Amino acid sequence: MTTVSDTPALKIALLGGGTVGSQVARILIEDAESLTERLGAELQLTRILVRNPQATRDYQLPDEYYSDDADEVLEGADIVVELMGGVERTRELVLQSIEQGSNVVTGNKALLATHGNELYEAAADAGVQLSFEASVAGGIPILRPLRDSLSGDKVTRIMGIVNGTTNYILDQMDTTGAYFNDALAEAQRLGFAEADPSADVDGDDAAAKIAILAHLAFHAPFSLDEVYTQGIGEVSEMDHTAAATAGYVIKLLAIAEELDDPNGVVLRVHPTLLPRDHPLASVRGAYNAVFVEAENAQELMFYGPGAGGPPTASAVMGDVMSIAKRKLRGGPGRTHTARRDLQALEIGESITRYMVVIRAADASGVLAKVAGTFAEHQVSIKSMNQTLDEASTEEDKTALLAFITHRAKESQLAQTLKATEALEEVREVLSVMRVEGK
Ligand code: NDP
Ligand code: HSE
Repeated sequence: MTTVSDTPALKIALLGGGTVGSQVARILIEDAESLTERLGAELQLTRILVRNPQATRDYQLPDEYYSDDADEVLEGADIVVELMGGVERTRELVLQSIEQGSNVVTGNKALLATHGNELYEAAADAGVQLSFEASVAGGIPILRPLRDSLSGDKVTRIMGIVNGTTNYILDQMDTTGAYFNDALAEAQRLGFAEADPSADVDGDDAAAKIAILAHLAFHAPFSLDEVYTQGIGEVSEMDHTAAATAGYVIKLLAIAEELDDPNGVVLRVHPTLLPRDHPLASVRGAYNAVFVEAENAQELMFYGPGAGGPPTASAVMGDVMSIAKRKLRGGPGRTHTARRDLQALEIGESITRYMVVIRAADASGVLAKVAGTFAEHQVSIKSMNQTLDEASTEEDKTALLAFITHRAKESQLAQTLKATEALEEVREVLSVMRVEGK
């Protein structure tokens, strides 16, 4: 019988000892005994690559663990865990790891959404595994269910709150009336935000995540530049009020859906109105949730902490254990296949509902004229709410008109807006936001 003492330890090199990396180090050291029991072999943390080996860390190990010499850290590693972030230097180190025969675990969505195809191919050629559960929605196991559990079903749509920082900011603005900058500073303090938080606020982090989710769900490669991306920087107090008045809440959603005519996938990230009773509307703070629609499984929702050191480290450790088990059994590496020839479609093809807020003259016949432009372009109105306009004057009496539409093609909505703006009675289209849910 083979015992733990007969089985050589698996060497783990860690690239990055920050928010997530230090938690992975903690688990490898503090839970070493139970991990060994579960695996039948020891996971030995060898070295940790950092920029500044002298810095004090959340989980501090003796000085000899830390190094700023990448070659020294990578040497002899069975599994390289990449948690340093960034793209170009990281790509080089991940390729170096693959070429030397190490398996790789990463939480770096920006890297995968930019160079994923090159890295998956390099890993397949080298016969090593490249796993990335932590790259989407932090601690939520979502990639493995998409890749394995749903592989016999046909996913039609994915809709997720996949960025904790922006969900935290929007939630604080909605529930406490907090200011944008205060809420962002708190998200940074709590360790959710990226090193450069504009990646969160501008929607790029969510865009990278939906590209990864779509790859696994639709079995075709998609990249960051194929995702229509709009961040939360322009969501105003007025948008929150108009949404709340109509019974909605604003969330930054990442959506990927397969359309039939033309066949392809629309990938989009934008602030979205959701009815308050939609399951995603109740996702608060930095929590994430991914809503999956599949032909047979129907509607599934995966919910949990989408960021933060310990939850993300949990997802990383799941990948480490899974690779370690395969390595010990001598099984083949798992490859990520993108077999379908499925194109990414332009945003104009997407079909959804909209909230449009217009400042227009407060006079008889105006509403009918504005509604007429919607009808002319086959955009059907579901509801309308008129409120006082604080900018209204005696000389120019105006009102705010907030329309919610039924489902329409994005290109038809664009034509409607053009025609509406051209009306003499319309002063300004103040806001246009997409609406999801029933
Ligand atoms: P941090 O900024 O907290 O940590 C980064 C670590 O990498 C630091 O230890 C830093 O060294 C080291 N590092 C960075 N660049 C280099 C370099 N060029 N050479 C050597 N060392 C380097 O990042 P996080 O832990 O927050 O995130 C790591 C990765 O995990 C990112 O890809 C992120 O997107 C992803 N992720 C993060 C989540 C989170 O909640 N924070 C959730 C899900 C994924 P030093 O400490 O000396 O500066
Ligand atoms: N900055 C990311 C977020 C971290 O706020 O969700 C998790 O990927």
